[in-house]
Amino acid sequence: MSTTPYSAQHISSLKADTPSFLALQEHYAATKNIPLRALFDGDPDRFASFTVEAAGLFLDYAKNTLTSETMSLLFNLARERHVEARREAMFVGEKINTTEHRAVLHTALRTPWPPSSAAAALVVDGQQVNADVHAVLEQIATFTESVRSEKWRGYNGKPITDIVNIGIGGSDLGPKMVCQALRPFQHARLTMHFVSNVDGHDIDAVLSKIDPATTLFVIASKTFTTMETMMNAHSARQWFLTQAETATETDLAHHFVAVSTNTEGVKAFGIDPQNMFPFWDWVGGRYSVWSSIGLSVALAIGFERFSEFLAGAHAMDSHFRSAPLEQNMPAILALVGVWQRNFCGSASLSIAPYHQDLGNFPSYLQQLEMESNGKRTALDGSPVEVNTCPVIWGNVGTNGQHAYFQLLHQGTDITPVDFIAALAPEHRLPGHQAALLANCFAQSEAFMRGKSADEVRAEMQTKGMPEDQITALLPHRTFPGNRPSNTILMQKLTPAALGALIALYEHKVFVQGVIWGINSFDQWGVELGKVMATHILDELNTNATCDSSVGKHDSSTNGLINRARAVLMA
Ligand code: F6P
Repeated sequence: MSTTPYSAQHISSLKADTPSFLALQEHYAATKNIPLRALFDGDPDRFASFTVEAAGLFLDYAKNTLTSETMSLLFNLARERHVEARREAMFVGEKINTTEHRAVLHTALRTPWPPSSAAAALVVDGQQVNADVHAVLEQIATFTESVRSEKWRGYNGKPITDIVNIGIGGSDLGPKMVCQALRPFQHARLTMHFVSNVDGHDIDAVLSKIDPATTLFVIASKTFTTMETMMNAHSARQWFLTQAETATETDLAHHFVAVSTNTEGVKAFGIDPQNMFPFWDWVGGRYSVWSSIGLSVALAIGFERFSEFLAGAHAMDSHFRSAPLEQNMPAILALVGVWQRNFCGSASLSIAPYHQDLGNFPSYLQQLEMESNGKRTALDGSPVEVNTCPVIWGNVGTNGQHAYFQLLHQGTDITPVDFIAALAPEHRLPGHQAALLANCFAQSEAFMRGKSADEVRAEMQTKGMPEDQITALLPHRTFPGNRPSNTILMQKLTPAALGALIALYEHKVFVQGVIWGINSFDQWGVELGKVMATHILDELNTNATCDSSVGKHDSSTNGLINRARAVLMA
C-alpha cells in the first residue's frame, strides 16, 4: 500500500488567505465584468479549448465565465491541496474516511476480475478485496439469472413478476435511479417497485397492486437498523403472511432476500443468510449502487448489462486515476464548481437532464453531493473557512423550462446549470429527439448570451410596436445573460454510459471534498434528527401529555406532539 506525504487528520480547511486562493480572488475581481459573450466573440476556438472527452462522455464547460488563466489558477489550487496524492490514497485503500476509520473503495467494486496485476489486487485489513467483490458478483449473477429465467419461483410455483426494493437513502436512490434510467433494457416480465418512506402511504400504494405469490422483496440496508427500512420490511413480511393463501413462515425464503453488511441483523429479521448478499463497510451508502445494493438493477437488466454498467464506471475510474488534471474530466468539473461556488458566489447548482429516463438523477445527486460535501468541519476538526457544497436540485428538461427556468434566466441569483443529454434516443418516434436537443442547446445558449436591451428594442420595432409600449416592456424583456452552464453529452444512455456518468460525479465530489479539506465519506449530520425522532416516537405512543414543565421540548414541539397524539390516540 502506498503512503501519502501527509496524514489526513492534519488536513485543514481550504484557507481564504492561501496564495492560490488569493490569486483566484484577484483574478475574479479583474475579470468579473467580462461578459461570457465577449469571451466567445474574442476566441473562435473557445469550444475546443474548454471541452474534454473521456469514458464515452463529452464535457463542454466553455459556457462558464472563465479563461485559460482561470483554469490554470484552479489547477494550481488543486495541486496545492494534494488532489493527486489523495486520489491515489483512495484508490489504494488508505483509510481516508478518518472519522469512521474506513477505506473508501467503491472503485474496487467495478475493478475487472481478475485484477490486471498482483500490485492491482487490493488487500485491506487482511481482506482480499477483489476476490470478495468477485465472489459476491458471482452470487448476484447466479441469483438474478435464476429469477429472470423462472427457475426461482414463489412459494406456490409461480414465476416472480414484481420486485420490491425496500431501502432508503443510498439503498434506494441508486437502484431506483438506475432502474429508471435503464428502463429500455429491463426484463419484460419484471416490474420494479421502490419503497423508501416510513410514511405508510408509500408501501401501501405498492402492496395494493402486487400479488404476494409472485413478488420478491429485496430488503436493502447497509446497517439493517434504519428505522424506515426495518418498519417497511416488517410490514411487507406481515402482509405476505396474511395475504399469501396457505403461505407459512418457511415460504418467506422464496420471497425475501437481503442486501446488507449486517449478517446478524438479517438473521434476526428471519432471512436465511444464504439469501443475503453482503457488502462491506468500505462502501458508503451513497456510493453503493455498484455493490450488492445494485441487486435490483441486476434483476431488472440482467447481469451482463449490470457488468457493462460497472465497466462504464471503471473506464471513468481509470481516466480519473491517470489523466493529468488539465485533461481530467472529474477534476475539471469539480474545479469549475469550486470557481462558481467560492469565487463567483453561486449557492446552488441545478441539474437538468434532457432525458426523461434520468428523471431521478437530480435526487440521486442530491444525496451524493450534499450528504458527501455538506460539511462545516475540516478533516482536522477545525471549522471550514470557505463555503462548501452548494444546494443541488433540478428536474428533467424540457419540463423544468416551464417551471423554474424563469428564475434561472431573470432571477436575482446566478445559478449554474449542468445540462445532460444523450444524442441518440432509445425510441423511434420521429421529431422528438431533435426537439429535445434543440431545447437543451438553446437554453444553455440563452443563459450565456442573454438578450440585450438594444436587441429587444430592435425586435419590438421590427414588429411595429409603439414606442411607449417598447419603453414600458423593455426592462421586462431584457435578459442579462452571463449565466454559466456545463453540458455533458453521451451517445446513448446505455448501462456503460450511465456508469461513467455516475462515476464522473462521484469523483467530482471527491475532488471538491479534497479541495475544501472535508471528509466526503461520513454523514454525522443525519444523526441528530434520527435520535430525536426515536424519543418523539415513544412520546407519540404513550398516554402522558407533553408539557414544557417536563423540560423535554420547547413549547412548539410539545404543542405539535400533543395535537398529533390527540388524533393517534383517538
Ligand atoms: O441518511 C443516512 C444514511 O446513513 C445514508 O447515508 C444511507 O444511504 C441511508 O441512511 C440508508 O442506510 P442503510 O443502508 O444502512 O439503511
